Amino acid sequence: MPADTGEPSKASVASIGEERDEVRDACSRREFLRIATAATAGLTLAPRASRAADARIEVLLGEPVARVTADLYGHFIEHLGGVVYDGVWVGKESRVPNSGGVRQALIDHMRRLPSGAIRWPGGCFADSYDWRDGVGPAAARPRRTNFWINDMASLPDSPGKYDPNTFGTNEFMRFCRLAGGTPYLAANLRSLPARDFYQWVEYCNSPAGSSSLAELRERGGDRDPFGVRYWGVGNESWGCGGNFTPEEYAVEYRRFTAWLPRYGVPLSYIGSGPNGGDLGWTRRFLTKLTEKGEGALGSLWGWALHHYSWNTSRGATTDWTAGKGDAVQFSTDEWYELLNEADRMDGLISGHWGVMGEIDRRHRVKLVVDEWGAWYRPGTAVDPTHLFGQQSTMRDAVLAALTLDTFHRHADKVAMANVAQLVNCLHSLFLAHEDRFVTTPTFHVFEMYAPHVGGQSLRTVCSAPRITYQRVNATGSFWGLGGSASLKERTLTLTVVNPHVSEAREAEVAIRGAAPAALKAVTLSAPDIHAHNSFAEPTAVQPREEQTTPARDGIVVHRFPPASVTRLTIELR
Ligand code: AHR
Repeated sequence: MPADTGEPSKASVASIGEERDEVRDACSRREFLRIATAATAGLTLAPRASRAADARIEVLLGEPVARVTADLYGHFIEHLGGVVYDGVWVGKESRVPNSGGVRQALIDHMRRLPSGAIRWPGGCFADSYDWRDGVGPAAARPRRTNFWINDMASLPDSPGKYDPNTFGTNEFMRFCRLAGGTPYLAANLRSLPARDFYQWVEYCNSPAGSSSLAELRERGGDRDPFGVRYWGVGNESWGCGGNFTPEEYAVEYRRFTAWLPRYGVPLSYIGSGPNGGDLGWTRRFLTKLTEKGEGALGSLWGWALHHYSWNTSRGATTDWTAGKGDAVQFSTDEWYELLNEADRMDGLISGHWGVMGEIDRRHRVKLVVDEWGAWYRPGTAVDPTHLFGQQSTMRDAVLAALTLDTFHRHADKVAMANVAQLVNCLHSLFLAHEDRFVTTPTFHVFEMYAPHVGGQSLRTVCSAPRITYQRVNATGSFWGLGGSASLKERTLTLTVVNPHVSEAREAEVAIRGAAPAALKAVTLSAPDIHAHNSFAEPTAVQPREEQTTPARDGIVVHRFPPASVTRLTIELR
């Protein structure tokens, strides 16, 4: 979100469009062209096993990228609309099944997912949040006007407007423990002094009984320190987090991180990085950060990149409001356009990584994509108080899958990623209201992809005929098959997206460096690309096991249904 200029919201998103050309070229790695490059670089493709196959996937066991960590499957919860209150927190006295106030169904489902980092309390909210409001006896905590009050002006009153602070630091830590996640706290840089930041660290991490803040934590129910390692230093500091220039933010960043108590915890600071393709923000920040010497890079563990897929106008407008489409009602052209928006992630990672390398030549600093997902126009929330609440269809599942595949392929550059946001908001894994709860297709993708975690990401090259579609004044195009692979001992996990709305794609899968033995397939697809789960129909979209054909001559041939996400589990000899 931009600074509060009176504009409806996100005016600075225009810079994404302006910057777009700078990174576009990096997105073409999965095309026929790249296969040709690979071949000329000495990689000969495996012989065709079937004349019917019109696509190929080449997994290169000899070209490991990096280990896939659970932190690539991170989450984000903000005090925004129905995310925390209603989504996560129902209260200890609620008739909704809960553990100490946290929604039980949410805990149970999160336990099925990789235990990645959970980012809290924002988002834009973080830069107006005083952590002291959310500690101490719950009954004595103040009620505060929420950052999002202006966006909620026409919505019914709710805790999203006036925050009761019932959910504070101790409650968040309990949620992390219950859900199996690692805490990632975003500190307030816009509206609190640096002292509040290091005292929040003291509250969280100082040894039991060592200081008054440690005793306050203990009175909140937690004698042992939380050992919080990940700390965001502001959020979107180019916009809602202070409306800084990159140089101004670099000075603030240095000041805020100049001293904090460590208590033996390797504090990992995450700087507020660019809005999408704004390479200038990255270059200018790092230049200013290091003006007193390159040692300053040692204080920066991660560089946050935010990228939302929102403009489905197919070139008609770059306006933040007018460019958005409906979450459920969309044309096939809008389907491809949104996927194209999401696929920009590949080029954004490469583009910012390249700029980071100009200053950080050893690449000590990694990227943290701590907000990503689809953002639609309002209208499909499960409750009117859920600001930015939206339904999630098969399109969002495909978007999530291609984004996770992108992170795997760049696992050497991206240290953490957090989908925005966990429940009742933008690209959510869950929708919940009062005692009703449902998983979205995106939840299924996260669960299907979980076996990648702990594996070694491998270079994977897909080739398939490109798909074309209609933009306003041009023909758009999109790749025909995409995916990623990882290896854990002798088990290869290969995840594949077929983005075509109506055509199945039969592909040969060649594993260079080993022979496939047993094979299993799980697929997420639906007869209608608009299909989604709802409270009334909670299982409309869910994964199913697929028939597979045994490998022949070392090559697997698999048919990927239209508009689908597939996981192949291949045991290697
Ligand atoms: O996720 C919603 C908002 O989007 C976040 O608060 C902000 O960081 C971004 O603009």
